[in-house]
Amino acid sequence: MTIGYKHNKILIIHGPNLNMLGKREPEIYGSTTLDEINKSLEDLGSKLSLAIETFQSNHEGEIVEKIQQAMGTINGVVINPAAYTHTSVAIRDALLLLDVPIIEIHLSNIYKREPFRHKSMVADIATAQISGLGVIGYSLALKGIASLIE
Ligand code: DQA
Repeated sequence: MTIGYKHNKILIIHGPNLNMLGKREPEIYGSTTLDEINKSLEDLGSKLSLAIETFQSNHEGEIVEKIQQAMGTINGVVINPAAYTHTSVAIRDALLLLDVPIIEIHLSNIYKREPFRHKSMVADIATAQISGLGVIGYSLALKGIASLIE
């Protein structure tokens, strides 16, 4: 099925503890809340004629199920797997089910932090990674997906 550009749908996945943005280690993650990030992505999505679905979970299996359900129904994924970035073969394997651009994003620069954050289970299967640009990274990820699927 050919999906018209205006109907392109992007799934934004936020992993564990990202629901606490604004309160959580603001010196690392900034003061913007997850609701504010989602709102700005929805606004940018409508300018780019993209339908945006946002999803946050603190549970690995729920994220896996969300990715499975997205098969065949979405045109791109922006994912911040948060702590699961460094541990989750299950999320990696679920993402491998998808045949659409995937942008991995981190608010902080994971390579400038503790050694256990330097390994990403997703980086080598993602189309691109943005790490260390704070909330601006989300807008760049969405613009990047838009140009990839245009
Ligand atoms: C994070 C980095 C991860 O190491 C951490 O566990 C997070 C957030 C980031 O956005 O910088 O929860 O993904």
